[in-house]
Amino acid sequence: MIYKDRRDTLINRLDGIAILSSASYQTRSNDTEYKFRQNSNFYYLSGFNEDNSCMILLNHKGVKKSILFVEEKDRVKELWNGKRFGIKKAKKHLEFDEVYSNKDFKKVINKLLIGIKNIYIDTDKKDKFTKKVKKSIHSIRSLHVEKFIDINRLIYKMRLIKDKHELNLIKKAINITKKAHINAMKKSLHVTHEYELQAEIEYIFTCNGASSDAYTSIVAAGNNANTLHYISNDSKINDDNLILIDAGCEYEMYASDITRTFPKNGKFTKAQKDIYKAILHVQKKVIKKIKEGVFRSELQKYTQKKLTQSLINLKIINMPYKKAMKKAVINKYYPHGIGHFMGIDVHDQNPYVDKNNKEIALKKGMVLTIEPGLYLPKNDKSIPEQYRGIGIRIEDDILVTKNGYKNLSSDIPKDIKEIESIISK
Ligand code: GLY
Ligand code: MN
Ligand code: MN
Repeated sequence: MIYKDRRDTLINRLDGIAILSSASYQTRSNDTEYKFRQNSNFYYLSGFNEDNSCMILLNHKGVKKSILFVEEKDRVKELWNGKRFGIKKAKKHLEFDEVYSNKDFKKVINKLLIGIKNIYIDTDKKDKFTKKVKKSIHSIRSLHVEKFIDINRLIYKMRLIKDKHELNLIKKAINITKKAHINAMKKSLHVTHEYELQAEIEYIFTCNGASSDAYTSIVAAGNNANTLHYISNDSKINDDNLILIDAGCEYEMYASDITRTFPKNGKFTKAQKDIYKAILHVQKKVIKKIKEGVFRSELQKYTQKKLTQSLINLKIINMPYKKAMKKAVINKYYPHGIGHFMGIDVHDQNPYVDKNNKEIALKKGMVLTIEPGLYLPKNDKSIPEQYRGIGIRIEDDILVTKNGYKNLSSDIPKDIKEIESIISK
């Protein structure tokens, strides 16, 4: 079982006890809640999708085991909120060595803590299970805990390299997202507002079995694309606008993250083409550079150089190349990174540096986005008029392979002719 294998790998890296709890429901307003989303690390190690649960992983004096605490079955609670596994089903399906009611947490943990020096906890979270552990440590005099260690870092490191099961789910998420982006292009001629395209995108997500979006969809017409995290999606779309859509679904807990930018009326203007071509060119080049041993920072530097030269050619940057690079002028028009790792989280929090703070190189099995963009605000009078109000990003999801890379989203159209042909149909 993949989840048990992952737990065993982690247990072997511990010297002490690890405590990791599930997510809890978050209030939306008054007594209503957001849809439940499991804690990513907890899910990675359990495949269990309930709240009010906690796992303990132990490696102490030769004793290695995994323990799960779950909410007991309760007829009335289940009537309102749906079925739960309870102890019996959890024991049967989740392959922990021991499963208890979470009511027994204190009793069990007090015994386990005896003789323990290192406790691995989620240092970002202040959940009730971790609080109970800390309380026990304070109240039991005979305990000699020396260190609290961040459990997340160890798990993020494991999550950096995707296994077959994970890649399969990422590919499924991308395949649904592909359908959604193509559908949005096809509907472009027939809509008037950004939210209509958001609805078109998310309709396809839901109808194809995605559990959610992986992040709030960005549907930005014209100058709105120059707000990087534009999510209000409520403006009218003008006929001559470009529309930037950054949207990806989550499928069985795995993300996709795709951006396409296309003209509402199906025809790029000359100015829009100038900028689009510059980004597409560098995006393709950067993807081709991906292989084991390459650093993300090299890809970013390369992108900054290429985009600087393009903007000089288009007279948007008006100084010699060397000076523009020295002054990092490109940061004004391309203010973000070239991409990020992606997996259970759209921005997988995998470490970009090793324990000596040295950047880690790309390795087979990593999945990252490549997403260069240029943002030319409407009110920036220093930009030639024809380019003002244009914002473009192109984003694909890339797997690092043994000999190079595989673009997992290569069949989502991004060439000018292809996009224009889809919209006009
Ligand atoms: N959709 C968020 C990002 O591209 O990073
Ligand atoms: Mn991204
Ligand atoms: Mn994105």
